[in-house]
Amino acid sequence: MLVPAIVLLATILVLVVLYVLDDALGTLQERIGHARKGGLSWSKRITWMLLALVVAQFFLPSDILDPKAPAPEPLPQAATFDPDSFWSGPDTTRLAFLDDERENLIRYGRELIANTAHYIGPNGTVMQNTNALNCQNCHLDAGTKPWGNNYGAVWSTYPKIRARSGKLETVAKRVNDCVERSLNGTALDSTGREMRAIIAYMEWLGTGIARDQKPKGSGIVELAFLDRAADPQRGEQVFEVKCVSCHGKDGQGMLKADGVTALYPPLWGPLSYNKGAGLYRLSRFAGYVKANMPQGATYLSPQLTDAEAWDVAAYVNAQPRPERDLTGDWPDISKKPVDHPFGPYADPFPEQQHKFGPFGPIASYYKKP
Ligand code: HEC
Ligand code: HEC
Repeated sequence: MLVPAIVLLATILVLVVLYVLDDALGTLQERIGHARKGGLSWSKRITWMLLALVVAQFFLPSDILDPKAPAPEPLPQAATFDPDSFWSGPDTTRLAFLDDERENLIRYGRELIANTAHYIGPNGTVMQNTNALNCQNCHLDAGTKPWGNNYGAVWSTYPKIRARSGKLETVAKRVNDCVERSLNGTALDSTGREMRAIIAYMEWLGTGIARDQKPKGSGIVELAFLDRAADPQRGEQVFEVKCVSCHGKDGQGMLKADGVTALYPPLWGPLSYNKGAGLYRLSRFAGYVKANMPQGATYLSPQLTDAEAWDVAAYVNAQPRPERDLTGDWPDISKKPVDHPFGPYADPFPEQQHKFGPFGPIASYYKKP
């Protein structure tokens, strides 16, 4: 742009000089008694043409002399997963094809999932609200890991009626459930930038997934029930061998050098999820851990047997953690999942069995016509 601009200025300068000279010449001719003749008119015409050319090139496409490069194919904002393989989220490079405002909002949502505590944790930069956990500690790889409690089925299934609240729940309501329970905080303002960003991210994750469709590997894997109760004592042994190295003998994990976010998140105690959280249900914990823990495990290469997963779940969930008033939950008690650890129940089984199992008999009780 610089060179053409200089040429433009130079041309204008030459024109001005030509006009001044021409005028001077004319005046001179008059003085010596000749009639005015457009002495420099050809020079002026040529310079005008040059000026027109210089101006015109500003409006020509800059690559007019380049060999024709194919225009970049706009990538569709559609997930290319096929229903037979694991869903692992759309490609983030596709975000570049959205308008900037939308792209920024989605990226902020993803960032909030990955580094929640940094923004809204105990020393958060946006607000001080939640515990030490990041959403991503439980929803791995920003909610895209197959069987890593991912968000593959969120946009396609919400709003939906959930038995826990007995109400139609929007994505915002469901996100706030985790904020209030898993993150032991207070609900985010559903019109605030943080919630709008998280929702935008969920919507983007859901591109290409039809209504009510659940991509393969979304959520938490369901383990078969043990035919005995899960055993906290055996679980403690599993914990010693397979979990202590990162989560610590006291289950408190380890903070990063910033002192704000967790390198290894706490599994119980004041900074962990409260008793209303999903992981406080044994089946959720066992399924999550089976496909994802110790860190590095996947659904296809697990490192625990099913029994170890159930037992370690029993051990961890027998430890102290924040309480939560759950009196509003499960308005229809017959809809409680078999492993909901708090009565009353619409069945004769004791609370202890709902907490640790065996769950098979409870499940069959509800299956009876
Ligand atoms: C301590 C672990 C934990 C943390 C931290 C956590 N969640 Fe969750 N979340 C869960 C569990 C467990 C479920 C229930 C999964 C199930 O029942 O299959 C869940 C479910 C969800 C769902 C519904 C998924 C579905 O397919 O129905 C959404 C949405 C969600 N969480 C969002 C969030 C967001 C956003 C954050 C951070 C603000 C967060 N969660 C933090 C454990 C956690
Ligand atoms: C090599 C280190 C390592 C080992 C060993 C390990 N974890 Fe984890 N665990 C992590 C990390 C890191 C996260 C957070 C994952 C993330 O943010 O991507 C995590 C997250 C979790 C979470 C969800 C977040 C929370 O704090 O509630 C649970 C539950 C969990 N681990 C249980 C276990 C259990 C049970 C074992 C033993 C069977 C275990 N982990 C072994 C590193 C480990």
